[in-house]
Amino acid sequence: MSPPLDMSVTPEVTAFFDEATNTISYILRDPATTACAIIDSVMDFDQASGRITHTHADRMIAHIRDHGLTLDWLIETHVHADHLSAAPYIQRELGGRIGIGAQITVVQDTFGKIFNEGTEFQRDGSQFDQLFTDGDSYQIGSLTGVAMHTPGHTPACMTHIIGNAAFVGDTLFMPDGGSARADFPGGDAGELYDSIQKILALPDEMRLFMCHDYGPGGRDIRWESTVADERAHNIHVGGGRSREEFVRFRTERDAQLAVPRLILPSLQVNMRGGEVPVDEHGNKVLKIPVNGL
Ligand SMILES: [Fe+2]
Repeated sequence: MSPPLDMSVTPEVTAFFDEATNTISYILRDPATTACAIIDSVMDFDQASGRITHTHADRMIAHIRDHGLTLDWLIETHVHADHLSAAPYIQRELGGRIGIGAQITVVQDTFGKIFNEGTEFQRDGSQFDQLFTDGDSYQIGSLTGVAMHTPGHTPACMTHIIGNAAFVGDTLFMPDGGSARADFPGGDAGELYDSIQKILALPDEMRLFMCHDYGPGGRDIRWESTVADERAHNIHVGGGRSREEFVRFRTERDAQLAVPRLILPSLQVNMRGGEVPVDEHGNKVLKIPVNGL
């Protein structure tokens, strides 16, 4: 992977936990300038009423304004299936570029068919400002971010590494949470194992930031671990578990998991870079394909 990692750089990371979806959004700040990035924002969505609000995103916007920061990037680690992204809402308030993995085109193709989208839905990733491929680098003030392709949960999953901080999306959970499911269309348990090995090959002290935590066993919500911690203690891949063992375990477990509560609205919005689809009359409308998933 290029450019080389610089573990001497410690970006400031502020976490914002969303209780409704157990998602952790982050503001990463360059300590040397006012530049910052948002990783994985959340738009509040009440499915029963179809109502969208922005309490969670507004907290992040207020933090950025209160600290006099400049938003350079809105990074999506992947197309989330359990919450809606607020990236375009925040971008309209604060600017910045929205970036996601280049394999978003595969995700758009898959779900474009499932949601029977017309030709007006572009499957070329053009809804995003930047499509990252493996090893791409970018600037957040004086910091250099590097995108590492870590597919398996979804084809477009990227881990973003900035100094000694890595944002792993849903590739890995806290050691007692294990790993995310690999059974969505385009997911692959073997690929997920290989991607996790790429993360576990990073330096021992690399700080890892999770996208989700569900407080297994009733413990408090946590979102930060290290490579050394995950390698030793992760209940799905720690202690040198083999690829074959992992794939068998992951496949059996995924077969028992329920569909995420917000999967249908999340996919339709997130595959459009966070914009709600609009019908031929200009109304914002979401579909429920019957027996489509
Ligand atoms: Fe996810």
